[in-house]
Amino acid sequence: MKKEIIHAVKSLSGGVEPPGDKSISHRYAMLGALADGASELRNFAAARDCHSTLGCMKSLGAEVMVNGTTVQITGHGLRGLRSSWRTLDAENSGTTIRLLSGILSGQQFTTKITGDSSLQKRPMKRVVTPLRQMGADIRAKDDNFPPLEIHGGKLQAIHYEMPVASAQVKSAVLLAGLYAAGETTVTEPAKTRDHTELALEEFGASIHRKGRAIAIQGTAGSNGKGALQAKSLDVPGDLSSAVFFVAAASLLPDSDLFIGNVGLNPTRSAILDFFTQMGAAVSVVNLVSKQGELIGDLSVRGAQLKGGVISGELVPLLIDELPMLAALGPFTEQGIEIRDAQELRVKESDRIAALAENLKRMGATVEERPDGLRVEGRSAGKLHGAEIDPRGDHRIAMAFAVAGLAATGDTVILDADCAAVSYPAFFTELRRVSNS
Ligand code: S3P
Repeated sequence: MKKEIIHAVKSLSGGVEPPGDKSISHRYAMLGALADGASELRNFAAARDCHSTLGCMKSLGAEVMVNGTTVQITGHGLRGLRSSWRTLDAENSGTTIRLLSGILSGQQFTTKITGDSSLQKRPMKRVVTPLRQMGADIRAKDDNFPPLEIHGGKLQAIHYEMPVASAQVKSAVLLAGLYAAGETTVTEPAKTRDHTELALEEFGASIHRKGRAIAIQGTAGSNGKGALQAKSLDVPGDLSSAVFFVAAASLLPDSDLFIGNVGLNPTRSAILDFFTQMGAAVSVVNLVSKQGELIGDLSVRGAQLKGGVISGELVPLLIDELPMLAALGPFTEQGIEIRDAQELRVKESDRIAALAENLKRMGATVEERPDGLRVEGRSAGKLHGAEIDPRGDHRIAMAFAVAGLAATGDTVILDADCAAVSYPAFFTELRRVSNS
């Protein structure tokens, strides 16, 4: 278990490029394994989570070759997967187990899939319920937790009104819908990231959108040949990883940082609008569109941050950025308040509890609530270094490393290796652009 010691620094300068987007890499890897022929995926995420997906696709019969950040994945068509004799291991990755559950529901064989101790505590009922409605037979521990045993088979199309705003649930149903008879429709209670829809279209599936509803045409009855075509694709950099650098550069007044090749899909970029509203000096330069995804470079300078409230429909749009925003709270004028975010309690850790505990260790004034937290701003006092327990959660580790840059004294991040789940080079990159 590696510790990282964070010293206070004056500014951040120079340039960084975040690793390839985690959400997009998962989807390209899964669809590449279902396509006919060899797909080339460039700037594939370094994130351990996405390599868990590659491992699963390999066990299901796809050929996978990794050369640095370029992945070649060869699929044998929509009906070309074969059963795995071993239990698939999604490790720490909720996206892997939930999206794959959709695909596995459409197979004519049985698969067991599990993950690490964190994943084994995360709710799967949210995907199991609609997939059962489509005709899959799924067993889960306590009917909710991994390991899952998925007996796939013939699926029928459904109209599913999602009770939670979750891109993972939407994606599981759409991916199962690819195998079903007829048109499957999913309606979201609030907008969530749309990478699955974009990737499915890119690989050749038939998708229709109408307001909050997304429909996919199923392929039951066909041999699946040519349903998805192999592609040569570039993965944009991960905005959710870049955000730690946006936050760090904003915090330190003399910073001037360039962040290159960042995915700016509108279902992900609300975080940049929120930073701008808080008074951050962030601008987007060189915007281009590739394979349905927007990509740009960011320029960030230090600024006084106002703080603010995140609630309602904004929550799913910046769900992965909430740990960073909460940890910025004590450095802002009005503090940060997060409401309607009970989902944070079932992420890689109980993020509300992990944030409240570690912020308090650094001297912040925090009120923990069932659906969020209120973190008091600058008037409640300056943060001091402390020992941080990230509870094995990559985003908690990185958020507190950033807070440590602007605290007095040293901050020790325990078990800092967990950052590799999304950003293996995070601490090296942070040191490289820091000026003491
Ligand atoms: C993800 C969706 C989000 C997000 C997760 C990745 C995805 O989860 O928190 O890190 O790739 O679809 P939910 O859809 O469960 O909110």
